[in-house]
This record gives sequence, structure tokens and C-alpha cells, in this order.
Amino acid sequence: MKKLNFTLLFLLGLIFITGSFLVNLYFVFRYNEVIIKEASRAFFQEIMITREWNASMGGIYVPVTDHVTPNEYLDDPKRDITATDGLKLTKINPAFMTRQMAEIARIKDGVQYHITSLNPIRPANKPDPWERNALLSFETGNRECFEMVKQDSLKVFRYMAPVFVDRSCLNCHAKQGYKIGQIRGGISVTMKSEGYFTAVHNQILIIAILFLFLLIAGSAALLFFKNMMQKQFQVIIQQNEELQKNIHTKDTLFSLVSHDLKSPLSGALGLGEVIQTEGDSMSKEELINISRMILKSTRQTYQLSEQLVTWYSTQKGIGEFDPETLVLKTLVESCIELLQVRSKEKEISIQNLIPGDLAIEADKNMTEAILRNLIGNSLKFTPKGGHISISARLSEEHEVLEICVEDDGIGMPAKTVHALMTFDFQTPALGTENEKGTGIGLTLCKEFIKRHHGTFRIESDEGKGSKFIFTLPLTKKPR
Ligand code: HEC
Repeated sequence: MKKLNFTLLFLLGLIFITGSFLVNLYFVFRYNEVIIKEASRAFFQEIMITREWNASMGGIYVPVTDHVTPNEYLDDPKRDITATDGLKLTKINPAFMTRQMAEIARIKDGVQYHITSLNPIRPANKPDPWERNALLSFETGNRECFEMVKQDSLKVFRYMAPVFVDRSCLNCHAKQGYKIGQIRGGISVTMKSEGYFTAVHNQILIIAILFLFLLIAGSAALLFFKNMMQKQFQVIIQQNEELQKNIHTKDTLFSLVSHDLKSPLSGALGLGEVIQTEGDSMSKEELINISRMILKSTRQTYQLSEQLVTWYSTQKGIGEFDPETLVLKTLVESCIELLQVRSKEKEISIQNLIPGDLAIEADKNMTEAILRNLIGNSLKFTPKGGHISISARLSEEHEVLEICVEDDGIGMPAKTVHALMTFDFQTPALGTENEKGTGIGLTLCKEFIKRHHGTFRIESDEGKGSKFIFTLPLTKKPR
């Protein structure tokens, strides 16, 4: 399985998210600018409509007051007239009206506009530098200027478009030589930027929160995914390891067993052949002797094959675990009986020191196999005339029974004990002189004890004997 590169995935995601965030930022600025531009345009159009209306009337008359005095630049013989009731009236041309409206707008909503020209009749109408540039650009065909500029340390949006001469303008502007369609000047609209910046800030804040959330959620999802993948990966590795171990175990087992099965069998075969060819000339005593040897080899082979079958079934999970209440003393008794022939042969006494009232909660077949294996083992490593005893005592917590199979045999060095305890078919043959067999017996014992959640240990003194101690659960049922 190819491993996914999560760092790369994360980086790609990060680049994508940051990228789209920046694109979003750009559009926030653009969008808000467009709004301001549209608002400026609308302002401009409205002024133009009012102006057009005024111009189409050839100017309009209003009463003269403190604020509205006759326009000194308006060169018109009918500029000032008197109504029949004596009220003084003066003509207001579009530019004058624009100036007066601009004054009101400035006070009311902070929008400023200015009517100007590169060639002003009224000197105060002359353009500022920004307006001048805009007007010059109109002369070369440009029809609109929009820009954010700094004005008195404040940022403002400035908009400007040209005003063209039409028939209605000629009444007053023909004298200056203007013709229809020419640019007379322009009107600039100046808007404050506060509203714009608050809008932009708020929108950016929302987008930033959104993207941060996206980033966190994305990272979390990625991490979760990564963890999941890793776990699955781990499981596969573990399964693979187990499989390898299994194969190795079977391989080792096969080579060990083929050796251990072969030698006693070939011994028995050889002896059988001797009887076949020379049986006639043998004495009864000789025949009995040979048959005893054949029996010994066959028994050894049988025992090994029995152990093999049991071990295999535990590995396969065939061996059923079925605990029941068992009287330990009787179990031990029947085991000793089974091994009687061999113990008599070696003149070894086996003592059952288990008290009659001890009951355990254990699987009968497994417990028998443990006892048979351990006692059989002691028989093998105890010289003629030795002693074996089986005893039991309650553990300190009174929860389990500690059972001890003890012999005064040859014992074994610490190294061998360690090898026996760790042997699980992974470590090949034990290699010291005392061990015969494959270790299947002990492995089986360990396996069965483990099934009972028990412990197992060996105490041994070289030359003095060994103790095999294991625990089994006490019965909980009252007897
Ligand atoms: C009733 C006369 C009258 C009419 C009609 C008129 N104007 Fe003017 N206009 C003036 C006067 C007088 C001024 C100069 C002083 C001022 O600011 O009032 C002026 C100023 C201007 C200015 C400002 C620059 C400057 O020269 O000071 C522009 C631009 C302008 N007019 C454009 C127009 C256009 C375009 C029309 C036609 C739609 C028009 N006017 C119609 C009388 C008129």
C-alpha cells in the first residue's frame, strides 16, 4: 500500500485556501469601489438633470436675498428684474445653481461637488490639480475619472465627468466661442471613504472567520483521515507480522518434529527387523528385552504425536475451553496412575500431597494435559530411585491455587530455565545437553495455563532438582 503524503496534501489545501482568501479580498475591495463609483455617477447624473432643466429655461429668476445676490459674471441685460409688486428678482444660471446646491449637499451628507473648467468665466471656478488632469484627459477622449486620493490626510473617492455644450447653453456661452458638442468643463464629485472602509473591514472580518473555520475544519478532517489510514495500516502490518510468525512457527515445528519423530521410529524399526531375521534363535529373555525397547520408542513417538495434535488444535482454536468444578486430588491421582509403568521402571516414587478438599474451576482435559506433561517431564529428568511430589497451596489473596510439581532430579542451569520459559517455537532448538523433545509439551502447558489466566514459573537448582509452579483458579461454587 502506497502511503499518502499528508504534509503535501495539507500544503496544497493551505495554498488553495489562502489563494481563494486573497481572491476574495480582492473582490471585496473591487466590489465596494464599484458601489462608490455607481453612487458618484448617480450624484453626477442628478446634478446634470437639474442643470439641464435650468439651462432649458435659459436660467431661472429667484428673489434677491442676503444669500442670493445677482451673479456678477452673468452678462445678461435682463439679469435683474423687478416684479409688479416691486420684488427684486435675479437670474440664476445653471453653474450658479450648482454652486448653491453643492453648498447644501456639503453640509447635509458630506458629498462635495464642484463645477469647473479649464477656461473659467469665474476665476474661483478654476480646477484643482486633480480636476485639471481629469479635464485634460477629457480633451483627449476620456469620458470619466474615478480614483481614491488623499485629501487633507484623509482618503476620499473622487469622480469626474465632462459637461458638453448643447443648444440651451449657447444663450450665454456662445459669446466665448463655444459650439455644440464641445466640452465646456466638468463637475467633480468627492465622497468620504469612511463608509467604504467600515464596509470593507466588516466583510473582510466575516470572510476571514469563514476561511479560518474552513482551515481548521479542513485540517481536522485531514488529521482524522490520516489517523484512520494509519490505524488501518497498523492493522495490516500487525496481521502481516502475525502471519509471518505463524509461518515461522510451523516451519520450526516441522523441522523439530520430523527429527524427533524419526529417531525413535527408526530405532523401533531396526529392533523389529532384528526380531524378524534373528527371532528364531533368540532366548525368551532377549525377546522381552527387545520388545521393551520397541515399546519405549513407540511410546515416545505416540506421546509426541499426541502433543502435536493437541498443540495444533489449540492453535486452530479447536481446543474448546470448558471450565468446570474439579477435585484436584483425584485428577492428580489418575495422572499418576497413567504414568505408573514408567515410574516403576525407573523406581521413582510419586507422592500426591494435594489435600482432598481443594476444588478448582478449570477445563478437565487441559488440566490433565498440564499435569501429565509436567509429571512426565520430571520423570524424564529424575534418575533412578528419585522422588517426585505434587503439592498445592492457596495464594496469598486466596483467589488462586498454586500447584507445584517438584522433583529431586538433575535440575538445570538458569540459562536453560530462561530458554524454556521463552521458548515458543521462535527460538530454534534449545541446544543444551539435557533437553530431549521439542518443547511442545511445555509450550502446551503454558498455553493452557494462560487460558486459565494463570501464571507459570520454574525454580531449578542444578544437580538438586526442579520445581514447576503454576496457578489455576479456585472454584467459586460452594461445595
Ligand atoms: C443663463 C446663462 C447661462 C446658461 C444658459 C448656461 N450658463 Fe454656464 N455659466 C454662466 C455663467 C454666468 C457662468 C460663470 C459664473 C458662475 O459660476 O456662475 C457659467 C459657468 C459655467 C461653467 C463653470 C466654468 C466657468 O466658466 O466659470 C460651466 C462648466 C458651464 N457654465 C457650463 C454650462 C453648460 C454646459 C450649459 C448648458 C447646458 C450652460 N453653462 C448654460 C451662464 C450660463
